[in-house]
Amino acid sequence: MAKPDVLIRSAIRPNQMQALEQAFTLHRLDKAADPAAFLTEVGPRIRGVVTNGGAAVGRDIIDHLPAVEIVATSSVGTDHLDLAAFAERGVVATNTPEVLNDDVADLALGLILTTHRRMIEADAWVRSRDWANEGAFPLTTALAHRRLGIVGLGGIGMAVAERAEAFKMEIGYTARGPKDVSYQHFDSPMTLAEWSDILVLCVPGSPETAGLVDAEVLNALGPGGILINIARGSVVDEPALVTALRDGLIAGAGLDVFADEPSPPTELLDLANVVLSPHHASGTVRTRDRMAQLVVDNLLNWFSDRATVSAVSFLTR
Ligand code: 8YV
Repeated sequence: MAKPDVLIRSAIRPNQMQALEQAFTLHRLDKAADPAAFLTEVGPRIRGVVTNGGAAVGRDIIDHLPAVEIVATSSVGTDHLDLAAFAERGVVATNTPEVLNDDVADLALGLILTTHRRMIEADAWVRSRDWANEGAFPLTTALAHRRLGIVGLGGIGMAVAERAEAFKMEIGYTARGPKDVSYQHFDSPMTLAEWSDILVLCVPGSPETAGLVDAEVLNALGPGGILINIARGSVVDEPALVTALRDGLIAGAGLDVFADEPSPPTELLDLANVVLSPHHASGTVRTRDRMAQLVVDNLLNWFSDRATVSAVSFLTR
């Protein structure tokens, strides 16, 4: 029986690419010199697509794939997928939830500590010999017993909360509704920001969350507040964030995601009170291998008995 034809929009980990090569006939759109011509040539044969969170799959691609059945992304986020177009065509989408929760939560706590205790500036204080020439680094603020507001208490948000408890932080959250947890529930990011010392964003990127953290929410977080974003750049009004950081309306930010990746605005890069990370929260060998293996497992399951391991619910995006 002929191997199903699968389009590679963006490659996954080496071992999992080998597994895909054994099970499917791969067509490397990611390496095509002329992607449009390539899609015209191979598109009619394609039954599956592989991508990741940094490589969009929309109508511009699936309109060239009359036989496509499944799109598997190596990401938990699905804002790069045109799920409405998929639904119209009956195309299944799969993502990679849960396997990255620990790494992403670890990086969130890393950004919280680094931002809150000004560790980047402290590093520079030593390297510049300011420590010898100027004396002790300025005192910072204790993290224990500070109020951590988590916007979105899904798998990643819960993993952040579990870690924050170990740091003796007080935890509040917003979610689609109250959850069976001991943390304080708030009805909106605004009321949560008013309560919080540190606000960490753990919601999916979507039309519903676009611009969720705007100038008003940042003002509610206040001059002693810190914003941590491990979600999507789209969740924050980035120009408003730059203004808030520059004008001291908030104390600082720790950002792993940006509106324009991989090129955040210079205004952001020039600020000393922001810690920057290159969208790398899930960027470990173990986790990216596990995400890639979920892509392989979803495709193998689909083409053997039309099942999936981690289908995206079109209702909860
Ligand atoms: C990846 C992510 O960095 O899972 C997601 O949604 O944003 C990250 O895990 C990205 O998708 C590239 O693989």
